[in-house]
Amino acid sequence: MKAEQVILKYGGDILAHKLVIKSKDCVQHGDISVYTHCFMVAKYALLMSRLFNVRCNTRALVTGVLLHDFFMYDWHRKKMPEEMKKLGLHGFTHPVTAAKNARKYFNVSKKEYDMIICHMFPLTITRVPHSKEGWLLCGADKWCSLLETLRIQPYDNAYVDRLTESLRA
Ligand SMILES: [Fe+2]
Ligand SMILES: [Fe+2]
Repeated sequence: MKAEQVILKYGGDILAHKLVIKSKDCVQHGDISVYTHCFMVAKYALLMSRLFNVRCNTRALVTGVLLHDFFMYDWHRKKMPEEMKKLGLHGFTHPVTAAKNARKYFNVSKKEYDMIICHMFPLTITRVPHSKEGWLLCGADKWCSLLETLRIQPYDNAYVDRLTESLRA
């Protein structure tokens, strides 16, 4: 099964959720929305698990990855809500915010919660991923962020919109 199909199979309910859809309006890097970013991280995490032959829980991998940036605000300093600014720097605080939101709205498992809260390692030096799924997320997230920041990510928002179109039908 293609990675995109695996994401739709295990993450369709997340990708169709109204609060997650709102992340299409939040920019991650460059022109890429948070929604597109999370989808692409899921795709690369699945491809990495195949490339390195990592046996893991595919449902947990897709769930944790799709929700890893479920913080629901624009993180760019000028647009960031005041109450979020008070918590500290986005890079350090958003894994906690996303993990809490994921638990609140999707009742994520302990492993998925851990994946999300540890995804910024090594920036958050004390939060080391405890699972293979967590390490795949950590690696794929950094890879995607690099491609997006350098504007060489070959997939754009329209690509992800096309793939997730069937979820809106
Ligand atoms: Fe993040
Ligand atoms: Fe991310």
